[in-house]
Amino acid sequence: MTGEMSQAEVEEASSKYLFQNYSQTPLAFERGEGAYLYGLDGRRYLDLVAGIAVNAIGYSHPEWVARMSGQISRIAHCSNLYMCRERAELGERLASIAPGGLCRSLFVNSGAEANEGAMKMAVRYTGRGEIASALNGFHGRTAGSLGATGQEKYRQSFEPLISGAYRYYRYGDAESVKEVVGRDTAALLYEPIQGEGGVVSADPSFYKALRDICTDNGTVLVADEVQTGMGRTGKWFCTEHYGVTPDVITVAKGLGGGLPLGAVLATEELAKVMVPGTHGTTFGGNPLVCASGCAVIDIIEEEGLLDKVSRIGGEWISDLRAIGSDRVREVRGRGFLIGAETDSEETAKGVRERMMEAGILVNVCHGSVIRLIPPLILSEAQRDEFTRLFAEFLS
Ligand SMILES: Cc1ncc(COP(=O)(O)O)c(C=O)c1O
Repeated sequence: MTGEMSQAEVEEASSKYLFQNYSQTPLAFERGEGAYLYGLDGRRYLDLVAGIAVNAIGYSHPEWVARMSGQISRIAHCSNLYMCRERAELGERLASIAPGGLCRSLFVNSGAEANEGAMKMAVRYTGRGEIASALNGFHGRTAGSLGATGQEKYRQSFEPLISGAYRYYRYGDAESVKEVVGRDTAALLYEPIQGEGGVVSADPSFYKALRDICTDNGTVLVADEVQTGMGRTGKWFCTEHYGVTPDVITVAKGLGGGLPLGAVLATEELAKVMVPGTHGTTFGGNPLVCASGCAVIDIIEEEGLLDKVSRIGGEWISDLRAIGSDRVREVRGRGFLIGAETDSEETAKGVRERMMEAGILVNVCHGSVIRLIPPLILSEAQRDEFTRLFAEFLS
């Protein structure tokens, strides 16, 4: 049987049998409902982490549960050796929401894999060998996506795995991009908002410059929307806010509703270089995860979550700024991807701990940034509960 261990037994077995590669909060959950998680400690937590920007429709959404239960009882996996109804349906749905002719999908299992797929496609398409990406960016932990991750802390001790193909530019600095991108650059990767890097945006003119520089050099422009996509910033894709259409968008996190699903969205012209044998994955885009992706898109539409996230998120940023504490240096972000940069790592950790005591889960990233990435179904009252406590703690 599974699901029978107590909190203490979970702690003991985790420390004895699992790799110790995460610094984990000693708390396990029994179940979730809406924006709440229920811990094995018997307490209820308001979840502003959402499995790191994953659980867009919250936990146990009734429509999702019904559709997933039906799907599991029919078929969960069948490989990519055969066609699959749910995969075709999700491809069609994504083509209908993706901007600028990104009408083809390649399904994978994670954000890192989506970026690997995008880079392989760009290399095949251009016949070039260099990848440009931003300092302070994050694109995943596999060897290729780690290579594109311009942050020393993730790369150290793995340099031997990382090829010399990567060139780094300063995020927000178009001149620095020009120095790095040239006739050897296959792809340029960028996050429309740097998530792991501390919720950092650039001036809209920067994203337009990226488009122009890539067009001038014949370089494939890849927007990594693994964190910002699927409605998190109040539009399906964050790049839409800036009116910039990339050649490729990578997504994952919110797309699968909690199941492991990533996708590379590309134009017809790019996708056609990925002929049989060039790429593949056993699990990628199986019936279960694709049915989940379709359910997530339907629920976001049915419940008007894009408009809701725009409005509630916009107000939230204003409310947090209005607190005006000298322990918060800046509040930034869009929709439900918000970062409050505090004055120190201690302050950020202190807030996280005190929030947890009060029954609210928040995430700290980039040392001192409190990152709010709740389910898109979060209500105004739930949002305000955090804001009130946050203001209280800061004072
Ligand atoms: C922008 C971005 N790209 C890629 C990834 C990697 O995704 P995954 O952890 O699913 O491999 C992440 C994860 O945080 C991310 O934020």
